Formats: sequence, structure tokens, C-alpha cells
Amino acid sequence: MEHRLWSSGASDKNKAMVEQLQRYGIIKSSKVAQVMETIDRGLFVPPGASPYFDSPMPIGYNATISAPHMHASCLELLEKHLQPGMRALDVGSGTGYLTACFAIMVGPEGRAVGVEHIPELVTSSIENIKKSAAAPQLTDGSLSIHITDGREGWPELAPYDAIHVGAAAPQIPQALIEQLKPGGRMVIPVGTMFQELKVVDKNQDGKVSIRDETAVRYVPLTSKDAQLQAN
Ligand SMILES: C[S@@+](CC[C@H](N)C(=O)[O-])C[C@H]1O[C@@H](n2cnc3c(N)ncnc32)[C@H](O)[C@@H]1O
Repeated sequence: MEHRLWSSGASDKNKAMVEQLQRYGIIKSSKVAQVMETIDRGLFVPPGASPYFDSPMPIGYNATISAPHMHASCLELLEKHLQPGMRALDVGSGTGYLTACFAIMVGPEGRAVGVEHIPELVTSSIENIKKSAAAPQLTDGSLSIHITDGREGWPELAPYDAIHVGAAAPQIPQALIEQLKPGGRMVIPVGTMFQELKVVDKNQDGKVSIRDETAVRYVPLTSKDAQLQAN
């Protein structure tokens, strides 16, 4: 009974967070609202942190779970490229939160792939996803998380309709541009001190166009050693 009361409280708070993002105009699409209601952020944030507070939270290993408004903005930017049956790559998948959202949006007939270079985060992200509404997709194989250097993408399942990069790259990795499908879109923070969230569109002829969406602040997309040594 206690457990049930706690669960419904958590999902109410998740819903309230989504409604607030809608009120602020960050979530515009009903599909994005729906997926963020379906995947409870509380299951992905380490104990002791405030999952529904609009701020990044430390997850260990010099990494963070991005703030709810950043997750929402990236889902908004990628929504048309996350239709049922499509393929999505989440680079620097961390807690697995966005990979789980992608899996729900592309459905079991699509593919959602997370890549992350810290093995412990891959293990905990899989545990998080198992508690979430995306759990069946881990079992049916339409959602998978892999330990690898995300700067190389995940060529085995390329090309992707949507690529999200959750850490800031000094420049856009060529491998990721190559793994983007014609008609596909990548959202990637680029920069070191000053970072811009870039929207990279590949048209049907393979021509790539890049625009700046907004200024952001992410942890770097770097080597595992450099990340673990950072203070
Ligand atoms: C800001 S966190 C975001 C994680 C995820 N989007 C979330 O909200 O839970 C960035 C993640 O990128 C990972 N990362 C950084 N460089 C990477 C690389 N070269 N390859 C794979 N993952 C990397 C970090 O370990 C971290 O988990």
C-alpha cells in the first residue's frame, strides 16, 4: 500500500514537471509531453537528488543527467525524426533517460541505440530502463545500450533518422555525420568554453546544413580517461 502511494506521488510529480515545461512553452508537441509523462524521470535520477527539479544532477563519473528542459528541447527538435519505425542514436546515453524516450517514440518496430563509454553507467542505465515503461523494448531488442566511444557512433545500425549527442564536442564528429540518414537530423552541443546546441540536417541528396539553436552548457564529449581525471 505504502509502495503504491509513493508510486502515484512520483508520477504526479513527473506529470507536474511536464505541465510546467508546457506552460513555459518548452514542450509544444503533445507527443513530447506524452513520452515525458510515460518515462518517469524519477527512475533515472540517483537517490537523494531531486528528479523533477529543472536542473542537471550529478550521476557520478564527472557526468550529469541533463535538465528536464534540455531533454524536452532535444525531443522537440527531433520529434519528426522519431516517428514509429525510425532509428535513433543517443550518444553519451548516461542514465538512459533519453534513450528510453526515443524507444517509446520509435516503438518496437524502430530502433533506439544508446552509446556510453563508462561501463558502470551503461549497467545502471539498463537497470533504470528495466524499471520504466521502455522495459519491454530491452527484451524485444528494439532498445539497446552499448559501451563504446560515442565519437565513433554505432555503425552497425546506421544510418539513423535521429542522432542526439548528450555531451559537448569540440567539433562535430565526422563519423556521426556519416551515420545520419538522408532526411535525418542530429542535435549536438558544440564548443568548449562557449557551447552552441547545433541542429544538423542532412537533405535527401546528402547535403548537410547546420544551424545554431541556443547557447548551452554540457560536460565534454571526450575520452574516458580525460573525463575520469577531470575535476
Ligand atoms: C551530460 S551527460 C548526459 C547523459 C544523458 N543524456 C542523460 O541525461 O542521462 C553526458 C554523457 O556523455 C558521456 N560521454 C562523454 N564522452 C563520451 C564519449 N566519447 N563516448 C561515449 N559517451 C561519452 C558521459 O559519460 C555522460 O554520461
